[in-house]
Amino acid sequence: MYCMEQDVEQILFDKNELNEICDRLAAQITETYRDSGRELVFIVVLKGSMFFASDLLSRIPLACEIEFMKVSSYGSATETSGNLQIHLDLKRDVRDADVVVLEDIVDSGRTLSKLTALLSDRGANSVRCCTLLDKPERRQVAFDADYVGAEIPDAFVIGYGLDYAETYRNLPYVGILKPTVYTTSDES
Ligand code: IMP
Repeated sequence: MYCMEQDVEQILFDKNELNEICDRLAAQITETYRDSGRELVFIVVLKGSMFFASDLLSRIPLACEIEFMKVSSYGSATETSGNLQIHLDLKRDVRDADVVVLEDIVDSGRTLSKLTALLSDRGANSVRCCTLLDKPERRQVAFDADYVGAEIPDAFVIGYGLDYAETYRNLPYVGILKPTVYTTSDES
């Protein structure tokens, strides 16, 4: 049976470190919304943030709703709106709610800048973003997440929900993918 481990160049965050990140982010988010009288809605951006969201949300003791979206984004470096494809949309109205978007990684910044603009347009009282990972060197549009688990260098990472070609999501850690994996398959 093919083993994914052979494609991992380096482990960046093991399960203990991921747990520490989730503890810290959950405490920050809980502090922000503890005394807010509004509805709190977490939006889990599929599929990459599924493990992260599960671990994070189970550490937050506040009453909230959990929704799912699946989106993708494309466009030129200068475009911050438009070109957001919604593959799975919310099942509820977010008007007047406090919304927290949970994402796996911010890369160019396009997806989250467009998604937060969309949710604000839909009338949310506030929209904040929490990302497990951030690659600031790769940014093409101005975007800062409100809660960041860890900044990482410009490398392609997999595991703990993050994929390459829909594989590697179930690795129990975040690791750097060996570049030979994608250079080989890109050439084929
Ligand atoms: P952005 O719109 O360029 O910020 O893209 C964010 C999306 O690109 C993430 O939600 C991921 O799906 C994907 N992505 C960016 N970098 C990586 C990576 O290193 N590993 C896996 N997916 C990535």
